[in-house]
Amino acid sequence: MQALILAAGRGTRMKSDLSKVLHPILGVPILECVFNALAGSGVKKTFVVIGHGGDQVQEAFKDRAHFVWQKEQRGTGHAVLCAEKVLDKNDSSLLILPGDMPLLRPKVLRLFLAEHQKSKATASVLTCLRRKPHGYGRILRRNGKFFAIREELDASQDEKAINEVNAGVYAFNARKLFQALQVVRPENAKKEIYLTDTLEIFSRQGDLIEAFPLASEDDGQGINSRSDLSIATRVMNQRHIQQYMEEGVTIMAPDQTFIASGVKIGRDTTIFPWSYIEKNVRIGAHCQIGPFAKVREGSVIGDKSVIGSFVEVNRSVLGKSVMAKHLAYLGDAKVGDETNIGAGTITANFDGKSKHQTIVGKKVLLGSNTVLIAPVNIADGAKTGAGSVVTAGSKIKKSETVAGVPARPLTKKKKK
Ligand code: UD1
Ligand code: MG
Repeated sequence: MQALILAAGRGTRMKSDLSKVLHPILGVPILECVFNALAGSGVKKTFVVIGHGGDQVQEAFKDRAHFVWQKEQRGTGHAVLCAEKVLDKNDSSLLILPGDMPLLRPKVLRLFLAEHQKSKATASVLTCLRRKPHGYGRILRRNGKFFAIREELDASQDEKAINEVNAGVYAFNARKLFQALQVVRPENAKKEIYLTDTLEIFSRQGDLIEAFPLASEDDGQGINSRSDLSIATRVMNQRHIQQYMEEGVTIMAPDQTFIASGVKIGRDTTIFPWSYIEKNVRIGAHCQIGPFAKVREGSVIGDKSVIGSFVEVNRSVLGKSVMAKHLAYLGDAKVGDETNIGAGTITANFDGKSKHQTIVGKKVLLGSNTVLIAPVNIADGAKTGAGSVVTAGSKIKKSETVAGVPARPLTKKKKK
């Protein structure tokens, strides 16, 4: 099976300079979420129709798909026609998805495709029941059988009252689809060539069309505005948080905790409110994170560590039982087991041109308000006094204590 994702639209309602499908949801672009939905669906080859902001989209996804340009956005049917040259047009199935539906779960898509295959329909459409169907295409049925899809702007009052809407996901017999598209005309309020019109053509000529109401309101949530984007962000976050709680993580305030995709968190870790954890972060077991902590991409936090209030960890790898309890910034750092990061400790990792590494060994004690001007290397068991400024290039020896500005080794005065 081949898949075609429609992502050329202007996204007018977003009022943005960025292509709609590149807007991130907890750090992951909308289009990437759509790709994730394809996991396990048996799709061999994926094409993406691009247009508005197409260069950006192509650059971001060049390893995952093939691209087709739709220079002028003349509707979803026209977008599919633009891909006619590159697609197989035999009797195989063509799966079409909108590029703006990030909450579609793989299992829903798999179920839809299984039903489509079983039904042997010429085309199937995924639908969803919405309490507020406004803005979506309504599913018209006759005696319970699918008949057509009517867009909001073209719908009568009676049709607008229908709660079953088009989720924008279809499985077509490719050959028949392109036949039907030849006769679709832009005769609607938007003067666009609607993909949805092909389904009415099929119905009228007696082909079997199935509409499967398998998508929940969340699965079928399209992103057309910033308001939709915020809804999708909330739902995505709730899904992640639900999963961590099931895996044994305490999340004190789910609505005030934000966790991106691909994060791993060990058992018995507690996340306090207002923490923000970026994608692909790994947090061990029995840790405490927050309140008000930001753990950024590329960070790994070992078991039993504490990342406390107003602590930011960025591209850093922390060992086990590392204590950074209050007010610290650890960027591009490597920190050994059982090291204590005093309140106010900062890695000054950026010199205005490039970023540098800070390496801190095991059982190190960094005094309050230590500034580590990277690159810096601090060996196991060393200590810094409160307010120390450790200058760039410094190497602090094992168990040595340094203090002052700039930090120098403390020499013990011998008693007489
Ligand atoms: C579309 C459906 C509607 C459905 C809804 C589900 C049509 C006519 N309408 O409406 O029935 O309920 O999705 O979310 O299909 N696109 C292109 N080229 C174009 C126009 C659109 O590639 O010329 C792409 C967009 O980038 C987008 C997708 O197709 O990813 C859907 O377009 P959009 O404008 O969002 O359609 P809706 O009004 O949401
Ligand atoms: Mg849409």
